[in-house]
Amino acid sequence: MPLVEKNVSIQEPKGKLGVLLVGLGAVSTTFIAGVEAVKRGLAEPIGSLTQMGTIRLGKRTEYRSPCLKDFLPFAALKDLVFGAWDVFPDSAYQAAVKAGVLEHSLLDEVREPLERITPWKAAFDQFYVKRLSGPHIKEAKTKWELAKEIMRDINAFKKEHGLKRCVMIWCGSTEIFLQEKPVHGTLASFERGLKENDIDIPPSQIYAYAALSLGIPFANGAPNLTVDIGALQELARKRRVPIAGKDFKTGQTLMKTIVAPGLKARLLGLSGWFSTNILGNRDGEVLDDPDSFKTKEESKLSALNHILQPGLYPTLYGRFTHMVQINYYPPRGDNKEGWDNIDIFGWLGYPMEIKINFLCRDSILAAPIVLDLVLFLDLAQRAGMRGVQEWLSFYFKSPMTAPSLYPEHDLFIQLMKLKNTLRYLRGEELITHLGVEYYD
Ligand SMILES: NC(=O)c1ccc[n+]([C@@H]2O[C@H](COP(=O)([O-])OP(=O)(O)OC[C@H]3O[C@@H](n4cnc5c(N)ncnc54)[C@H](O)[C@@H]3O)[C@@H](O)[C@H]2O)c1
Repeated sequence: MPLVEKNVSIQEPKGKLGVLLVGLGAVSTTFIAGVEAVKRGLAEPIGSLTQMGTIRLGKRTEYRSPCLKDFLPFAALKDLVFGAWDVFPDSAYQAAVKAGVLEHSLLDEVREPLERITPWKAAFDQFYVKRLSGPHIKEAKTKWELAKEIMRDINAFKKEHGLKRCVMIWCGSTEIFLQEKPVHGTLASFERGLKENDIDIPPSQIYAYAALSLGIPFANGAPNLTVDIGALQELARKRRVPIAGKDFKTGQTLMKTIVAPGLKARLLGLSGWFSTNILGNRDGEVLDDPDSFKTKEESKLSALNHILQPGLYPTLYGRFTHMVQINYYPPRGDNKEGWDNIDIFGWLGYPMEIKINFLCRDSILAAPIVLDLVLFLDLAQRAGMRGVQEWLSFYFKSPMTAPSLYPEHDLFIQLMKLKNTLRYLRGEELITHLGVEYYD
């Protein structure tokens, strides 16, 4: 099935765009507060491709590099309207204060719009997130009824704000490790599972089902299984909705996908990569549970193998040790510190070491990703794209692909793919970097 219909026409973004956030924690509130601050000219949207990126068009001799914002009809920041669910009833302002990511002086400037955002009750079950419990939870006999309640929340929100378009992003906690089971295979088996409260259907899949059923694009910011299943991909194709995932690529994995392609490009061997970090926010606390950590670990481990291709380069990458640790350490809050020790070898096998000490801010790295995904998914929907959007791999630790493909993890290939997709949508020539014509 082609990515888009022939002669792509992109509908204009008329009216407001609803941004539905599952989870109103550190990432969501840093994203919302950031958008409000940018709208008021208080800060710059650093890290966001849709707001600050440019795209080269045509030959290098043409000097055409417009801003992405001028090249494509994105929804404007002033047209975003936020809605969220959470297991705590705190407003976005209270939640942002508790998350402790942004300074009070900035939060006070955007206090009013943040206070207006109060979450709907969550579809939540502690079985799937062991280290979390809260009082603000929907009660329903079946998962099917929960899905209907979420749809009612969305429809009421659309009515209240006069919205025709919405996008949903999972910014909720990481759920326990689950694998695809027969109940996930087809839409029919999945709907039966919802009605029979099948244990293999976690809350994230109930939200995703509700969104896709209403024709709303969905992205998964956590490493949960969520839309990586036949049933929800079938629904996305049937309702002609784009989906993307999974697990925002920030922090150490971002560094890995920047450094590893460089090592491979110069054919430097790898004997080991040890990553550890300390993190003290609620995400760190949830990931302190071994079942949630396993979901994250799977997501973090896969990138190196795919980038380094040990099958093609057995001498260089056939036997490296890769270890990943996350340590919940409350004093650091959202300000994660990560250490990477990379044991490499060069000419004649002589060993060398690289040390990376990244003092990052998790939600500061994640917030622009949320904004870009909202705007790109809305654009994709208006361009008639549906199903898995592999060109958005750039943003994810475990990119979703068609079943027969291995994921592309190299950040630079991902960026090229993303920009070529945008050129394609606008009927511009794709850039191959061949460049022989300059020397004729
Ligand atoms: N910040 C990053 O750099 C980064 C990177 C990759 C992935 N992530 C993932 O993004 C997610 C959000 O991260 P965060 O730092 O904001 O975490 P957080 O703990 O601050 O926020 C998550 C929120 O989700 C809520 N929640 C959990 N289950 C819910 C449900 N079923 N329905 C509604 N609300 C629910 C929690 O109450 C909490 O407020 C996590 O899964 C995290 O692993 C974050």
